[in-house]
Amino acid sequence: MAERYDVVVIGAGPGGYVAGMRAAQLGMRTACIDGRETAGGTCLNIGCIPSKALLQSSEKYAEARNGLAEHGIKISKASLDLPTMMARKDKVVTTLTRGVEFLFRKNKVDWIKGTARITAPGRVVVTGSDGGGQEIEAGVIVIATGSESIPLPGLTLDEQRIVSSTGALAFDRVPERLAVIGGGYIGLELGSVWSRLGAKVTVVEFLDRILPNMDRELGPALERVLTRSGVAFKLATKVVSGELGNETVTLELEPAKGGERETLAADAVLVAIGRRPFTDGLGLDEIGIARDPAGRVTVDSSFATNVPGIYAIGDVIRGAMLAHKAEEEGIVVIERLAGQKTEIDYDAIPSVVYTWPEIAAVGKTEEELKAAGIEYRIGKFPFTANARARTNADTDGFVKVLADAATDRVLGVHIIGPDAGTMIAEAALAMEFGASAEDIARTSHAHPTLSEALKEAALAVAGRAIHI
Ligand code: FAD
Ligand code: NAI
Repeated sequence: MAERYDVVVIGAGPGGYVAGMRAAQLGMRTACIDGRETAGGTCLNIGCIPSKALLQSSEKYAEARNGLAEHGIKISKASLDLPTMMARKDKVVTTLTRGVEFLFRKNKVDWIKGTARITAPGRVVVTGSDGGGQEIEAGVIVIATGSESIPLPGLTLDEQRIVSSTGALAFDRVPERLAVIGGGYIGLELGSVWSRLGAKVTVVEFLDRILPNMDRELGPALERVLTRSGVAFKLATKVVSGELGNETVTLELEPAKGGERETLAADAVLVAIGRRPFTDGLGLDEIGIARDPAGRVTVDSSFATNVPGIYAIGDVIRGAMLAHKAEEEGIVVIERLAGQKTEIDYDAIPSVVYTWPEIAAVGKTEEELKAAGIEYRIGKFPFTANARARTNADTDGFVKVLADAATDRVLGVHIIGPDAGTMIAEAALAMEFGASAEDIARTSHAHPTLSEALKEAALAVAGRAIHI
């Protein structure tokens, strides 16, 4: 007889495992199914966590090589032990994926390893790695199957020399020349890792600036810092073709608007031109689950699909492909099923690019406010005028606060700077509470901290910053 659960979650990534835990907390009999050997989805296995581990290690390496002399610390040449760096990254991943498995046990969520297929509303078949099948009955099914990299036609990934983020997290040597296609999150984060470790990195971006979806001032500001550190950029450029030679991959490039072609030779190529929802093998067409033209499962505000009893969250639906967005949706889908009226304010979901300096943003960009015809005021404050940034010798970047011209309500905060990813939490909280720029400006911020730059930018909205 088929095992019966109140909730069956397909996918044990940040969306799925959090939904599973919350369902169990609320007393629902819950199973979470994943085709991987380890829990945690893309984020823990091949995404957020390994990339941040390598960003941290490579930053320490770069600092040891180039960043300590100004502090009066002399060391004779630091050298790279890549196998140890990779082993540390793998250990961090294992620790955290085991942590999720521990939480499954603690919360009494049944973790089922295998590939799930929905055969009918309320029915899921799971195929294990040994080929054996198991049928499960579900009161409710939550699809949390995440996303996969978008391939670039003409460049077949071998994950050795032509790689997606997965291959770029596991190179066994530093490529002498790394071509990165796409100047978005992955291209800039993993491009930074390998540049710090010694690769000559060239980022090829189709549009005329990196981070094209973020506030217009952020991309060019980061480009300037990364250029100084040795990363090369070819903007408004498209890759026309790629040829895999014995030693070298040769890319043919062309200006996005057409024009003279040039070639770019590299030892490895990272394709990072975005991700798309992953629904292969789930059986969605057979049961008639609606998807939009981008392949995203269509849901309403309670995350219900058009088929009763089937819900979807995370990267597989509309919105930013971010782990914490998936997590919030994992909580809300379950709480709504339990009759609670929980909601997500998508404007208050921050995004962070973990380069150095970091980029962090929450709320609307200036371009979005202009397009919506909303009158706004800007307050800006540079880290060169922040005492802590000076003591830390980390003065690149600025904080930009956008506030409603009539009400002073904070509409967006955009930061490029040291630890911007930590600082943005305050801005997200302010936005959740509907704070005004004056609320932030009148809040005491400890001195000397980087967060004082946010206070000063909030003061600057009213033209009364003190330290500039
Ligand atoms: P996923 O984490 O993708 O999990 C989906 C799971 O479903 C997978 O484990 C998959 O095996 C499983 N699955 C799929 N189909 C089936 C099936 N039929 N049966 C069983 N199981 C199935 N986001 C951030 O917020 N911060 C970051 O720093 C960050 N860094 C990233 C770095 C990289 C290199 C990448 C690639 C992504 C990064 N992301 C980051 C994005 C983040 O990983 C995703 O937004 C997040 O993982 C989405 O969570 P999810 O639960 O929707 O899906
Ligand atoms: P992305 O959408 O961030 O960036 C893709 C870039 O490639 C864009 O700048 C786009 O203009 C460019 N592009 C598209 N087609 C191109 C082409 N043919 N040639 C050259 N450039 C092209 O996508 P990315 O970097 O692959 O990351 C996927 C997603 O994963 C992100 O959008 C984000 O949601 C998530 N992610 C989040 C991270 C974080 O939170 N720190 C880190 C890594 C990934």
